[in-house]
Amino acid sequence: MSDPTPAPTAPDRPPAVEFRKVTKVYGQGTPREYVAISDVSFTIPDVVDHGEISSFLGPSGCGKSTVLRLVAGLEPQHPPTTGTVTVLGQGIVGPGADRGMVFQDYTSFDNRTVLDNVVFGLECRGVPRREREAEGLEWIAKVGLAPRRDATKFPHELSGGMRQRVAIARTLILRPRVILMDEPFGALDPATRLDMQDLLVKLWREVQATVLFVTHSVEEAVYLGDRVFVMATTPGRIAEEIRMPAAVGPARETQSEPWFHEQVNALHARIEQVEAAAKRPRNEHGAGQQVEAG
Ligand SMILES: Nc1ncnc2c1ncn2[C@@H]1O[C@H](COP(=O)(O)OP(=O)(O)O)[C@@H](O)[C@H]1O
Ligand SMILES: [Mg+2]
Repeated sequence: MSDPTPAPTAPDRPPAVEFRKVTKVYGQGTPREYVAISDVSFTIPDVVDHGEISSFLGPSGCGKSTVLRLVAGLEPQHPPTTGTVTVLGQGIVGPGADRGMVFQDYTSFDNRTVLDNVVFGLECRGVPRREREAEGLEWIAKVGLAPRRDATKFPHELSGGMRQRVAIARTLILRPRVILMDEPFGALDPATRLDMQDLLVKLWREVQATVLFVTHSVEEAVYLGDRVFVMATTPGRIAEEIRMPAAVGPARETQSEPWFHEQVNALHARIEQVEAAAKRPRNEHGAGQQVEAG
């Protein structure tokens, strides 16, 4: 286990991602008005030559996807109702090449081969065929697929894990500085999930990007996260930010070590406290009422 020693951040470097008092109200002014997230503030530093993985953990509906899609600049989450979202010091005006997103559902183009899916972004950028295909084959290998055997397959010929490898290759080939992952391994079986966690850590070390990773799994949040944001619901908000030791060993070994179980148990306990506090009746100021410990 390593200490969660902060890596060097230059004081003049703007944060990788910053939320300042961000509120998102869906359907504002309509009968369906709904406050998805309220007053969310956090700062993820741009760690020099390293990047960080931040895990976002919380119950369904607490606004995890809203947070990620605000960073991605995707409508209708973007723009926020109030507050500001910045990436590398710049206000978000819409989607951009500095940010890449991987979703839980398999979002490949069904009518394109693996290779054509992986190079899609390069094609959009006008990179010549020869060049983009050479790079695409490299990325197919990097994500653990077989360039020769798999490049010409279509998505329906792939397992869920393989499709997520394609999605990761398609995103990382564009070298985004910020990678947004919304429960990317949520639909995978446990063994494949561990393989994918190893893959993510390996690639993340190579590309040194900042990763925002949404998950339902406490184990996954602890293993991957340099920091974990525990979210609470109604309204969606950040209840806690916890620093974590960096993932150093392989997923299977690390996740069977005693210190890892301790971290997971401590986080489970913290989440239960947060959820219990969220369920308490609220007083007129909107704050959870204090309940005497008995
Ligand atoms: N486009 C939308 N219009 C209205 N309500 C939405 C929309 N997107 C999400 N919501 C609501 O906002 C809340 C937060 O959603 P979301 O960010 O998807 O949560 P999570 O990803 O944590 O499950 C949920 O109650 C959801 O129903
Ligand atoms: Mg979601």
